Amino acid sequence: MTTGQRLAGKIAIVTGGASGIGAETGRQFAAQGASVVLCDVQDELGHNVAGEIVAAGGSAEYRTLDVTDEAQWIALIASVEAKYGKLNVLCNIAGISGRPPSMTVQASGVMTGVGLENQTLENWNAIMEVNSTGVFLGTKSAIPAMRRAGGGSIVNISSICGIVGSFANAAYHASKGAVRIFTKSTAIQYAKEGIRANSVHPGFVDTPMARPGLLGNESGKARMDATPMGRFGKPVDIAMGCLYLASDEAAWVTGSELVIDGGMTAN
Ligand SMILES: NC(=O)c1ccc[n+]([C@@H]2O[C@H](COP(=O)([O-])OP(=O)(O)OC[C@H]3O[C@@H](n4cnc5c(N)ncnc54)[C@H](O)[C@@H]3O)[C@@H](O)[C@H]2O)c1
Repeated sequence: MTTGQRLAGKIAIVTGGASGIGAETGRQFAAQGASVVLCDVQDELGHNVAGEIVAAGGSAEYRTLDVTDEAQWIALIASVEAKYGKLNVLCNIAGISGRPPSMTVQASGVMTGVGLENQTLENWNAIMEVNSTGVFLGTKSAIPAMRRAGGGSIVNISSICGIVGSFANAAYHASKGAVRIFTKSTAIQYAKEGIRANSVHPGFVDTPMARPGLLGNESGKARMDATPMGRFGKPVDIAMGCLYLASDEAAWVTGSELVIDGGMTAN
């Protein structure tokens, strides 16, 4: 892993930090000098990631946070400010697919899973609550702390599913589309205060969430065929985009959407 000072002195909260893209983003942030607070509901995995970062010489800790719980967000931000004196970066990465592994995929053109007329309200609400409401609550809670810090950077993980539709999982698409536009509203409302907000739109990345639809089955083949660069993403591919947007290198970047998908949506 490349180490450096791109986030030197910054205090960063990374949700979804126990696994996949969030864990790798935490590692990369710490390797570039940030103090990282990893948050998730998978406590054992989260503690392991934080321990690994500390063993490598970085600054990290793990906190339990259900992103759908506003009281937990308020308590988290207060305690991070009390301990570190400020908050500079919030990376909203926690998310769920909400679909059974058998559910079909964007590129296949075949609907083998639950069509939207059969998607339950309960399933819709569960997906929206984590993927969209969680981002709203995190942003709302972090803004006053970032104002006190003199500015900040909010990086929200949407998806290519927030840009295009598909044959599958309309609720997931809707939840990620909400993140995309919510990010632009955040950017506009807080630009004058030096608080930036940008969205990141991964294509198919090999993580515990996506793996069942990527490896060793028809959906995986269809997705690979639709990926011009000929491979699935790795968590580090996405983490490096988050790193840029979190850093002062992106000082004039707000309200933008960074697609990292091996060319899939360019096609
Ligand atoms: N992997 C992909 O192909 C892909 C593509 C586009 C977007 N994304 C998005 O990237 C983000 C990270 O996903 P990933 O692929 O690394 O999957 P992942 O399952 O490895 O990580 C998601 C993490 O979010 C956590 N989480 C879920 N609900 C939570 C809650 N209520 N509170 C706190 N944490 C919670 C999980 O425990 C898990 O650790 C998600 O928002 C996902 O929608 C992933």
